[in-house]
Amino acid sequence: MALSDKDRIFTNLYGTQPWNLQAARMRGDWDGTKDLLSKGRDALIEEVKNSGLRGRGGAGFPTGMKWSFMPKAPVEGRPSYLVVNGDESEPGTCKDRDIIRHDPHKLVEGCLIAGFAMGAVAAYIYVRGEYYNEIQVLQAAIDEAYDAGLIGKNACGSGYDFDVFVHRGAGAYICGEETALIESLEGKKGMPRLKPPFPAAVGLYGCPTTVNNVETIAVVPTILRRGASWFSSFGRPKNSGTKIFCLQGHVNKPCNVEAEMSIPLRELIDRYAGGVRGGWDNLLAVIPGGSSTPMIPKSVCDDVLMDFDALREHKTGLGTAGVIVMDKSTDLIKAIQRLSAFYKHESCGQCTPCREGMGWVNRVMLRMVEGRAEIEEIDVLEQVTRQIEGHTICALADGGVWPVQGLIRHFRPMMEERIAAYKARNNLPMAAE
Ligand SMILES: Cc1cc2nc3c(=O)[nH]c(=O)nc-3n(C[C@H](O)[C@H](O)[C@H](O)COP(=O)(O)O)c2cc1C
Ligand code: SF4
Repeated sequence: MALSDKDRIFTNLYGTQPWNLQAARMRGDWDGTKDLLSKGRDALIEEVKNSGLRGRGGAGFPTGMKWSFMPKAPVEGRPSYLVVNGDESEPGTCKDRDIIRHDPHKLVEGCLIAGFAMGAVAAYIYVRGEYYNEIQVLQAAIDEAYDAGLIGKNACGSGYDFDVFVHRGAGAYICGEETALIESLEGKKGMPRLKPPFPAAVGLYGCPTTVNNVETIAVVPTILRRGASWFSSFGRPKNSGTKIFCLQGHVNKPCNVEAEMSIPLRELIDRYAGGVRGGWDNLLAVIPGGSSTPMIPKSVCDDVLMDFDALREHKTGLGTAGVIVMDKSTDLIKAIQRLSAFYKHESCGQCTPCREGMGWVNRVMLRMVEGRAEIEEIDVLEQVTRQIEGHTICALADGGVWPVQGLIRHFRPMMEERIAAYKARNNLPMAAE
């Protein structure tokens, strides 16, 4: 069954109505916010915990639990902050953009409520610099909220003071990683640091900080208005709620759509994206959660569910829910090589396995595209990805090698055929001499 319109959180996802405060209020935003705040910090965190909301930025960490790591009482000289991650640079992902430009008040109200729940004095919304027009809209929405007394001093008449700032990024993928994002916000080069300490202990300006994705924060007001059990009635246990999926690639109607979690991948593509170009049987593979997540072949796509746990069982992930559909016309080896080039380019260079490894992987992948390699090198490539994975400061390197692992796991014969064809064309012996 399709998600009905009355159960959609983002009722202006497509920008069919104005984004402004007046229109947002008609959609239900800022309705009874003061009453929500009057429930108190603990009750709000409990409700978010009960809703089962998991972070929408990629890793799927339980949101309420994350908030509960923030200090209960303010420490002199160490205010708490909420940082909202709108860096959105994962290839295949373009959902936060639609929230920011079409439904910004959901995000601004979410900042106030989430910030209040974790005892923060301000929210910093970090948005990728390329979203120039979106940032103009977001700033205008924040200005409207200040003018209406919804944020700022005595926000919504609650007695709570809360500021919201927008910060433009400069176009680096790595600045989406939370510790790099904090460095960048402070005006430094955006480079990740080792955790612990986690941002809840040492974050922005050395103060307690929670970093959450745009979508995570923007769904909070609706969850609190409609109740945890409403939200958790969608999707399977531990995978609850509705979710914006970005459907693209070889589909007839690429789109962003809010659907229930745990929807079968096939239904998602057929119902909302007009099906695979040339029909379902023309499907070759799908990258289910943005470029970092390993691809799955059609046989898995036939009945896999779109949620954190189901995709993990197939050694991939929901990630950002950026669904990249590839039909039989796709050169999968070339597609993955292109992603390797992206990760090589975006490495910040601090860790040797990432700095050297991503370049090495890309160079080998370039030869694999041509077939100019030995069959045994597929194993060497696989082993090197294992040496990189888990041996670096941040997960950029993991995300860079997982697509290669997915290719080898599911399409090794394709790589072998490419090598054999190259050798046959060039009269080379099959085994290395
Ligand atoms: C290389 C890299 C890039 C990331 N980019 C983003 C991003 O653009 N947006 C985002 O929300 N999270 C991104 N993350 C995840 C963040 O570090 C963090 O986990 C997330 O913002 C937490 O929000 P959530 O709990 O609401 O999911 C990235 C992580 C890594 C390792
Ligand atoms: S894994 Fe790569 S991007 Fe992340 S800190 Fe190390 S070098 Fe930088």
